[in-house]
Amino acid sequence: MNILVVGAGGQIGTELIPHLQSLYGEDNVIAADLKKENVDRLQEFSRAVELDALDVKNYREVVEKFRINRIYNLVALLSATGEKNPMLAWDINMGALINSLELSRSYNCSLFTPSSIGVFGHSTPHAGTPQDTVMRPNTIYGVCKVSGELLSDYYFSRFGVDTRSVRFPGIISSGALPGGGTTDYAVEVFYEILQKGKYTCPIPENTYMDMLYMPDALRACTDLMDCDPALLVHRNSFNVTAMSFSPKELFTEIQKHIPSAEFTFEPDPVKSEISASWPDSMDDSCAREEWGRNPEWNLASMTKDMLSEIS
Ligand code: SER
Repeated sequence: MNILVVGAGGQIGTELIPHLQSLYGEDNVIAADLKKENVDRLQEFSRAVELDALDVKNYREVVEKFRINRIYNLVALLSATGEKNPMLAWDINMGALINSLELSRSYNCSLFTPSSIGVFGHSTPHAGTPQDTVMRPNTIYGVCKVSGELLSDYYFSRFGVDTRSVRFPGIISSGALPGGGTTDYAVEVFYEILQKGKYTCPIPENTYMDMLYMPDALRACTDLMDCDPALLVHRNSFNVTAMSFSPKELFTEIQKHIPSAEFTFEPDPVKSEISASWPDSMDDSCAREEWGRNPEWNLASMTKDMLSEIS
């Protein structure tokens, strides 16, 4: 198995690379990123190359050179950044996906592209959001993710490309920081509290969103791709979650460890609007039934681990 991770310098890729290396061997994992400084950082622990996923010629050369047969396409502008420049978000998110789909088709690669809770919108049921439900997102990020799910399923049914994906909620991690997302507060807060003892939250205190701790997110990326395809009723894309909490609940949990931690709220209009349109909690029973997903981390264990990892 030769695996290429495109957009590897971000929050997920930085930790997915060592996870993949541990499962498939160090030589069989290639990290690719647009930014030279990310490639330099990735080269400290992996084989890494500079690649603009929008440049299909360059992308093809990398796939050919390393005889790639599985691609993780992690290239994306996230939800809040997307609203600042919607057409750029469309070009990057869809451009990287279309090149990944076409190359997977030509070179017989399996392809994982994360989808997101961003596929849902105000008209989606917010409590226990089902796997198959209304998907009319209110952000350009969500529009890209819904389009991506549909295109990925189309490439599977029309051309037999082995596309699979999950709808990630907020991912909490102590490696690389997320950037430009609506759920980023749940990572930022740990750094701010440990550095400054206080945190000003851009999300309203009682807004619930789903979250996953990175180890559970990494297992989702590999368990789904390695499972027997005969088990899959769905492909693009599975609801996955492990916890749902509001900022207030997360901060109360942090205060159990750091009673002096101070929290204030200054809701950001864009992030508040986006977070209000997303599910309070998703139903991930299809992922559990079809490929045996079974997350291990909850709010209490994640908080304890984040605090110890970051300090
Ligand atoms: N973490 C992402 C965001 O907030 C959601 O997929 O944009």
